[in-house]
Amino acid sequence: MDNSFFFPLKISSLTFENNIWLAPMAGITNLPFRKMCLSFGAGATFSEMVSVEGIIRDNKRTLQYLDKICDSDVIQLFGSNCLSFYKAGKLLVERFNLKILDINFGCPVKKVIKGEAGSFLLKYPDRMGDIVKALKDAGIEVVSAKIRAGFDKENLGETIPVIDKAGADIITLHARLATQFYRGRANHDYIIKARELTDKVLIANGDIKTPEEIKDIILKTKVNGVMLGRIAMEKPYIFKMTKDFVEKGSYEEFKGIDNVRIILSFVKSYCEYYKTDNIVSIRGILLGMIKGIPFARELRDNVAKIREFSEFKLLLERFCYD
Ligand SMILES: Cc1cc2nc3c(=O)[nH]c(=O)nc-3n(C[C@H](O)[C@H](O)[C@H](O)COP(=O)(O)O)c2cc1C
Repeated sequence: MDNSFFFPLKISSLTFENNIWLAPMAGITNLPFRKMCLSFGAGATFSEMVSVEGIIRDNKRTLQYLDKICDSDVIQLFGSNCLSFYKAGKLLVERFNLKILDINFGCPVKKVIKGEAGSFLLKYPDRMGDIVKALKDAGIEVVSAKIRAGFDKENLGETIPVIDKAGADIITLHARLATQFYRGRANHDYIIKARELTDKVLIANGDIKTPEEIKDIILKTKVNGVMLGRIAMEKPYIFKMTKDFVEKGSYEEFKGIDNVRIILSFVKSYCEYYKTDNIVSIRGILLGMIKGIPFARELRDNVAKIREFSEFKLLLERFCYD
């Protein structure tokens, strides 16, 4: 058993079973997806980003996004105004007794930047600090902040000390600039620099894809854990692979029919949870998930057209069980 890089994290009154976490991904990390990743052994999971303004307005659609599974299943908020964060935080504590929230300081999408939210705030570290403090003041016990290395230039030396001092308990660094979007390789030197700037729980993120890479980055940079994004879409069982690597020294991937079963079981739980047969809004997830199954290429074009679970099931059966 190699526990040098795989261990539980205790943060305030919360205990996370392990330090390998699922990253927040808009359009992907809905509740059934997070449930699947937790069942494969993710130590924590993060929701799609939820608007603080929507929460305050009691917007019905926004409130749907607040369902969560357990304390290790974390809701991510985005917004711009620290008073709105305070009000949303207070409401969530009072209504749901919420103990932990994550703040999106990394989203590079135009619409979000225009609203002065997400990675826009990296240019204004004081505003980031005010937002962290607002959630603390609202009674959120554990405040987590997900940042990038900077907006168009690295400024970790300006952002991290401010959010650390404001009370952030967890800092996750996606090791890219916002202007890079997802281009180029994540620069893990940023993570080494971040470690020098804070003693808080630091989580590394960006282009970490195998149990070996997880081990390397944790041991090399002394971060407390990692967050996995796109690889978890393709292989939600990456969390089990990592656990097997720790416990047995080796791991296997789910291939062929076993992988098809995982995909079908996810879609079934999605349809049950949302009480729908329409799977148009999860086509993106399915295109990611089918990468690892036989005939993925031929399947792609077909998946892009399907609308209902029954069609998808038939399609998989036609390709994979023949
Ligand atoms: C489709 C997609 C949606 C994302 N949505 C969010 C989001 O809502 N909030 C957030 O903080 N990051 C979001 N991200 C960024 C991821 O959390 C993560 O930082 C990034 O993908 C790098 O990690 P990876 O290389 O493991 O994928 C998103 C990424 C993708 C690919």
